[in-house]
Formats: sequence, structure tokens, C-alpha cells
Amino acid sequence: MWLTVFTAFLSFAAGACSGLKVTVPSHTVHGIRGQALYLPVHYGFHTPASDIQIIWLFERPHTMPKYLLGSVNKSVVPDLEYQHKFTMMPPNASLLINPLQFTDEGNYIVKVNIQGNGTLSASQKIQVTVDDPVKKPVVQTHPSSGAVEYVGNMTLTCQVEGGTRLIYQWLKNGRPVHTSSTYSFSPQNNTLHIAPVTKEDIGNYSCLVKNPVSEMESNIIMPIIYYGPYGLQVNSDKGLKVGGVFTVDLGEAILFDCSADSYPPNIYSWIQRADNTTYVIKHGPRLEVASEEVAQKTTDYVCCAYNNITGRQDETRFTVIITSIGLEKLAQKGKSLSPLACITGISLFLIVSMCLLFLWKKYQPHKVIKQKLEGRPETEYRKAQTFSGHEDALDDFGIYEFVAFPDASGVPRMPSRSVPASEGVAGQDRHSTIYEVIQHIPAQQQDHPE
Ligand SMILES: *[C@@H]1O[C@H](CO)[C@@H](O)[C@H](O)[C@H]1NC(C)=O
Ligand SMILES: *[C@@H]1O[C@H](CO)[C@@H](O)[C@H](O)[C@H]1NC(C)=O
Ligand SMILES: *[C@@H]1O[C@H](CO)[C@@H](O)[C@H](O)[C@H]1NC(C)=O
Ligand SMILES: *[C@@H]1O[C@H](CO)[C@@H](O)[C@H](O)[C@H]1NC(C)=O
Ligand SMILES: *[C@@H]1O[C@H](CO)[C@@H](O)[C@H](O)[C@H]1NC(C)=O
Ligand SMILES: *[C@@H]1O[C@H](CO)[C@@H](O)[C@H](O)[C@H]1NC(C)=O
Ligand SMILES: *[C@@H]1O[C@H](CO)[C@@H](O)[C@H](O)[C@H]1NC(C)=O
Ligand SMILES: *[C@@H]1O[C@H](CO)[C@@H](O)[C@H](O)[C@H]1NC(C)=O
Repeated sequence: MWLTVFTAFLSFAAGACSGLKVTVPSHTVHGIRGQALYLPVHYGFHTPASDIQIIWLFERPHTMPKYLLGSVNKSVVPDLEYQHKFTMMPPNASLLINPLQFTDEGNYIVKVNIQGNGTLSASQKIQVTVDDPVKKPVVQTHPSSGAVEYVGNMTLTCQVEGGTRLIYQWLKNGRPVHTSSTYSFSPQNNTLHIAPVTKEDIGNYSCLVKNPVSEMESNIIMPIIYYGPYGLQVNSDKGLKVGGVFTVDLGEAILFDCSADSYPPNIYSWIQRADNTTYVIKHGPRLEVASEEVAQKTTDYVCCAYNNITGRQDETRFTVIITSIGLEKLAQKGKSLSPLACITGISLFLIVSMCLLFLWKKYQPHKVIKQKLEGRPETEYRKAQTFSGHEDALDDFGIYEFVAFPDASGVPRMPSRSVPASEGVAGQDRHSTIYEVIQHIPAQQQDHPE
């Protein structure tokens, strides 16, 4: 180990001391057949030199090295056999090969000798390959008509018209395809076999072909793979969907949309179930139901999706419940009564009750009411009703307080429980009657001089 390092150091030191250094940018150069190839070489030295000699040799495996050309100072001495093919412009040691042929493939050796205070010499080797550029590949699929997933297989074949030393690579959606449980390659990788195909194999496939001098990619092909149906579901533009139940207001026309993923597109059919019988009501992905036309409040439907190539089908059942708009709205209003409103109502009730109690005590309106009720003619009495639309809660509370009075004077008895402030007034004659009386009590006192 140490010996190797030491030897390497010695040889490096010797080279540096000798003052001659030959370098090449690359030890491997890839050339294109028919074109010129330039093999760059640099050299440098630090001693005074009288003669500079450059020699190019060519060797192929298992053959003797061949002399190509050489130079001393600026005069070149070519091998006459190759004189039109190789050129050198000394003292520039770089070699130009033109035109490049397949037979020119091999190792090129350059040797530089410097004659000065003794002789220095150094050499380098460059490997040259010669290739034809790749032509654009074409991918063919078999079967071209497509394959059914989990049943069929598919083979993609990459064909290239021209090019040497081809390396094939398959890309799916731009990324390399690797061997897997369903993907396999031919020994050369120029065919990709998918067995069996699945929906996941759908994608943009291309064949990338490379060689040392070029690379080309085929057009993208999308294998036809038949699959599905998957993920069947029914949706509607209106109505409330909870699980498989759609709740729809009476009078609305609802459009149902049935969808499932498949290739080719599914054939959809709609089945209505009623009274133990089922019948197909429509074909196609959409179904419109006019809720007026539905005799029953609750109807069961089935959407069936069928893929006629894969031969598979799926169906989903759903129920449509038609509700009356009025009831629905009322129910929603009831719910929307906020706690704040309740608290406000109760507070108002208490305040007004106190006020009324106070007024009661102060003015003792018993007699006045009695007079009013007994003395008022029928017409006026009825007229008063029509004006009794109440503006605020104060009026309602009044009703509550004075319930007992008409009872005493022979008017039929009112329910003794309290009537909530916001409801229960409309349409009840008794309320209006009593209400009127209360409204006038404070006013009467104030307007007494009138
Ligand atoms: C090369 O050039 C050097 C000086 O430039 C000269 O001394 C020498 O004789 C030349 N050699 C040949 C072979 O012409
Ligand atoms: C040799 O000649 C080529 C052009 O023919 C030039 O690009 C290159 O720089 C030259 N090399 C040296 C070391 O002068
Ligand atoms: C030539 O080389 C020898 C030893 O290698 C050295 O002693 C001598 O000085 C050198 N002469 C010149 C002119 O460089
Ligand atoms: C698909 O390939 C599998 C295994 O490679 C084979 O057993 C099957 O018969 C092929 N199916 C078709 C339809 O060619
Ligand atoms: C496949 O290519 C088409 C157009 O050529 C493109 O619309 C689609 O998005 C590509 N799919 C993927 C998965 O890259
Ligand atoms: C074929 O491709 C695989 C990677 O997908 C690679 O490992 C293998 O070396 C390739 N074979 C040839 C002959 O190019
Ligand atoms: C539905 O039909 C089955 C037999 O087809 C029968 O037994 C059942 O009683 C029927 N149900 C109704 C509600 O008609
Ligand atoms: C599948 O259905 C489509 C459209 O409904 C039709 O054009 C096609 O011929 C059918 N194919 C088969 C194999 O039944």
C-alpha cells in the first residue's frame, strides 16, 4: 500500500521535474459517423527545447498499433495511407479526424518528445467511439384496440429506424418505469409487457432511446384500458341529502345525476321501486323528478351503471322524501327563536306586570271596565276589534292581567294559563275585547277632562 503511494508520488515528481506535461480534456470521445472529430491535446514544458516531436498512433483491440502521422517542429509526416483523413497543425498537437467512420473506432495515442537538455517524453490515450444518431422511436401497442383490466394484457413495443448502441427506457407520465409484479421488459428493454392491465396503468407512456451521441423520445401514447364502473354515486341539484335519502320540498323539480368512473362511459338506467315491483323509468345519466307528479311521499329509486365492455355493473339505491314547504318553513321558524328573544320577552313581561300592578292600585279601574263593557253598543264593540292589531308586547300582557273581568260579567271564561307574548292573539275575539279595555285605561285617566 505505502509502496504504491510512494511510487505514484515518485512518478508524479519525476513528471513535474521533467517539465513536460501532456493533457487531454477527455479520455473518451464520442463521434458521429460521417462527421469530423477533433481530439484536443495540450502540452507544456519548462526547459529550453530545440526539437518538438508529436506522434499519433491508433490501436484497436487485438491488433498492432498503427502509425497515423508525426511531426518535428512544424513539419508533418503522415502515413500516406491515411494522409487525407488525419490532420495536425504543429506545434498544436490536437488531431482532426475527417470523416469519421466506424472503422475509426479505437484508442488514439499521442506522444510528445522534447529535445533540449536531454530528451523529455510524455503520452496520452483517447478512446473514440463512433455512432449513428438515434432516429425518433415509434411505439406500438398490442392489442391496439385496448384491454380489459384484470383480464387482458398489453405489450408496448418501441421501434427505432436508425441508431447504434441503443438503450431503451420506458417512461410513464415522464418518470421511468421499473420492473414490477405487472411490468416486465424484454432483454433489450425495447418491449414493455403489462400483465394484467389495471386502471392504474392508464397514463402517458413514451419510449426514450439513447446512445452515446443522441437521444430521442417517442410520441406519447395512451393505452386503451377498459375499467369500471367505480365509485357510483347519485347527486342532486336541490334537496337535502342524508345518506341515501333526499328530502325535497313539494313543488320543486329535482334533477338527479348518477355518475361512476368507467371506461368506456357507463350506460345508466334508473329503476323505480314501488309496491314490491320495480320498473325501468329512464336511460341516461340524469333523471328529473317533478315532485307534484309523485303520488307517494316516499319513493325508492335505483341507479344502475353498466359498462358493456368490462361487463361489470354497479347500482345504488336512494330514497326521495317529499315534504310540504309550509310545514318545513314553520318548523324552521320555531327553531330560529333565539334564547336572547326569550330572555327579552320575559324581562319585558315582568316590567310591564309591575307597571300594570302599580296602575291598578292607583286608579282601581274595576268600575270603569264594567261600565265600558255593559254600556258600549254592539256595533262599537265589533268595530273596536278591528283596530285591535297590537303593536308591542305591552298590549299582550294586558290581556293576561284582565282575564278575570269578562268572566265576572258573564263573558265565557278564558283559559287561566298565561298566553305567550308573541302568539295566541290573532283570531281570538276575547283577547281583542279585553285588550281594548286595557289600552284605554291609562288614556282615559289622562284624557279625563275630555
Ligand atoms: C526545430 O526548431 C529549432 C529551433 O526553432 C531548430 O534548432 C531545430 O533544428 C529544428 N529541428 C528540425 C528537425 O528542423
Ligand atoms: C489547436 O488548434 C485548435 C483549432 O484548430 C484550437 O482550437 C486549439 O486551441 C489549439 N490548441 C492549442 C494548444 O493551441
Ligand atoms: C542540463 O541538465 C543537467 C542535469 O540534468 C543540468 O545539470 C544542466 O544544468 C542542464 N543544462 C541546462 C542548460 O539546463
Ligand atoms: C396475460 O398474461 C398472463 C401471464 O403473462 C397469461 O397467463 C394470460 O393468459 C395472458 N392473458 C391474455 C388474454 O393474453
Ligand atoms: C397525458 O397527456 C395529456 C395530453 O397529452 C395531458 O392532458 C394529461 O394531463 C397527461 N396525463 C398525465 C397523467 O400526465
Ligand atoms: C433495462 O432496464 C432496466 C431498468 O428498467 C435496467 O436495469 C437494465 O439494465 C436495462 N437493460 C438493458 C439491456 O438496457
Ligand atoms: C312482495 O313480494 C313477495 C314475494 O314476491 C311477497 O312475499 C311479499 O308479501 C310482497 N310484499 C308486499 C308488501 O307486497
Ligand atoms: C356499448 O355501448 C355503446 C353505447 O351505448 C355502443 O355504442 C357499443 O356498441 C356497445 N358495445 C358493446 C360491445 O355492446
